[in-house]
Amino acid sequence: MIDYLGEWQRTHDCGCLRAGNIGEEATLMGWVNTRRDLGSLIFIDLRDRGGITQIVFDPRIDEAALEKARVLRNEWVIAVRGSVSRRLEGQENPDMPTGAVELQVKELKILNRTEVPPFQVDGMVDASEALRLKYRYLELRRPKVLQHFIRRHRIAALTREYLGKRGFLEVETPFLTKSTPEGARDYLVPSRVNKGMFYALPQSPQLFKQLLMISGFDRYYQIVRCFRDEDLRADRQPEFTQVDLEMSFAQEEDVMQIFEGLIKELFFHVLGKEVIIPIPRMDYQAAMDRFGSDKPDTRFGMELRDITDLVKDTEFKVFRGVIEKGGVIKGIKVDKGASIFSRKILDELSRQVTEWGAKGLAWIKMTENGWQSSISKFFDDSQQAAVNQRLGAISDDLILIVADQSNIANQSLGMLRLEVAKRVGLIRKDDHAFLWITRFPLLEFNETEGRLEAVHHPFTAPLDEDIGFVEEQPGRVRAKAYDLVLNGVEVGGGSVRIHNMDMQVKMFRVLGISEEEADQKFGFFLEALRYGAPPHAGMAIGFDRLVAIMSGVESIREVIAFPKTASATCLLTDAPSHVDGRQLDELGISLK
Ligand code: AMO
Ligand code: AMP
Repeated sequence: MIDYLGEWQRTHDCGCLRAGNIGEEATLMGWVNTRRDLGSLIFIDLRDRGGITQIVFDPRIDEAALEKARVLRNEWVIAVRGSVSRRLEGQENPDMPTGAVELQVKELKILNRTEVPPFQVDGMVDASEALRLKYRYLELRRPKVLQHFIRRHRIAALTREYLGKRGFLEVETPFLTKSTPEGARDYLVPSRVNKGMFYALPQSPQLFKQLLMISGFDRYYQIVRCFRDEDLRADRQPEFTQVDLEMSFAQEEDVMQIFEGLIKELFFHVLGKEVIIPIPRMDYQAAMDRFGSDKPDTRFGMELRDITDLVKDTEFKVFRGVIEKGGVIKGIKVDKGASIFSRKILDELSRQVTEWGAKGLAWIKMTENGWQSSISKFFDDSQQAAVNQRLGAISDDLILIVADQSNIANQSLGMLRLEVAKRVGLIRKDDHAFLWITRFPLLEFNETEGRLEAVHHPFTAPLDEDIGFVEEQPGRVRAKAYDLVLNGVEVGGGSVRIHNMDMQVKMFRVLGISEEEADQKFGFFLEALRYGAPPHAGMAIGFDRLVAIMSGVESIREVIAFPKTASATCLLTDAPSHVDGRQLDELGISLK
């Protein structure tokens, strides 16, 4: 038998009763979180979104309610009426906001029963991720998980308030649209009315927000879903959310200031943390040279140092060979690493750097008597001393060296730096290290495609001083592009846009996009650029990534209500799924 709510109305949620409410009547509704049946008394922790309140069934208050309560099990849905009373002395729970009181139940309604849940909702025993995703709605009942969504909501609300106050209009842009190039594959949607034709789901609102600038909207923003068919990782989902923004008559500095202000407010109001602004800035090239990454984690040092000049005369064949081919010798120093890192770990690290593209890893343990290493014999005392000095290495430190072409040396040492920092526990989890990376290269050579590609996207403007090289030496042109990095994660990126049609056409030419292709893909946009486009710039923050970091979780899946797996499936709904033949017929599609 199931009871109906009837005329009952909830008077409080399960998180709000305090000592001040003692003596009041209250009606609570929620789920049975835990129960203790002591025979003569039954205690239940009743849970709803607001929190947990202890309710007690006592024969001295109402015998019938106590008897009715005997059948209750975890996760049943109930409503109770009773009076708020002080818990018995010694029964208070200072860890619970409602821990001073309990509700003495006079009347119970059983609103729904449940099957035995596939895992314990109160979270004491953990289940596999597959099971948790299949029953995500149950996992979302966990108060800890719920907190992520309350925080996510607050961050979104504060963002809207902040941007609204600064004159940004929230405008929705289409989901059924044409391909927007952000470098991933598109999700396509077939058109029934126009058989054989497809919409693309937007990888970002890039072109629409630029069109809004041409419309004179001046400042636009949107908290918007983006769709990208790409290989997934912990910080990537096929659909994800951006705080997307565009401003007219603006340059790099204006966009950066808006986001710095936003970040400062969010961290202050949500985490009670003070972010120092302006956030430090670093050129892309400096980031690569010093950290071997365009998204360096600056919560710790261990910077890469170039020692090519110090060891150019060495007898060590590997180093000489690399230098003769124009490569570099670079290294990092691990404080106290000599005693921390065993031979076995060093072998493991050597294997790892080869996975990251390097040909090998040389290591030097610093002792009281100088270098201890298989390569020390190739370096005389003065060379050794010079290397020690550049790396700041003293006794008991460890030096790790890679010799290779500079991009490979940087990249592999950059990864090694992170790996070593993790192993020795250098990364302070509660720190938040922000950094702007600026002056990215505008273009890069795609080896597999055999042609130049835009690093950010093809609508990004070159630096004024590099415009002259766009056609002759496109590889050396730097962009008015900037990324916001937080703890080694790219949380956002943007650029100043090309607002001049001739330059945009030139850019497509340099990218090897024919006039025909440009016209077919972006003709509408090129045409719009002819009608008085103002100078404009913008940026988008990866909202899921920002919320994940602010929540201290590793994966953005934790802060997305219904996330997908690494193979882009939804275990809850079983999407994607087959469709029936009639639907395909209507779309004029036959499967291969
Ligand atoms: P970009 O492609 O750099 O720029 O994307 C902006 C930010 O979105 C986040 N992001 C993702 N988050 C989760 N899953 C994904 N698959 C994913 N892909 C990207 C990242 C990234 O920094 N239109 C431009 C912005 C602009 O120029 O204004 C754009 O989309 O945190
Ligand atoms: P080998 O003479 O090849 O046995 O190498 C001697 C040491 O140099 C070993 O520890 C190798 O791992 C290391 N080594 C080899 N190639 C490189 C390289 N490209 N950069 C740094 N160290 C290397």
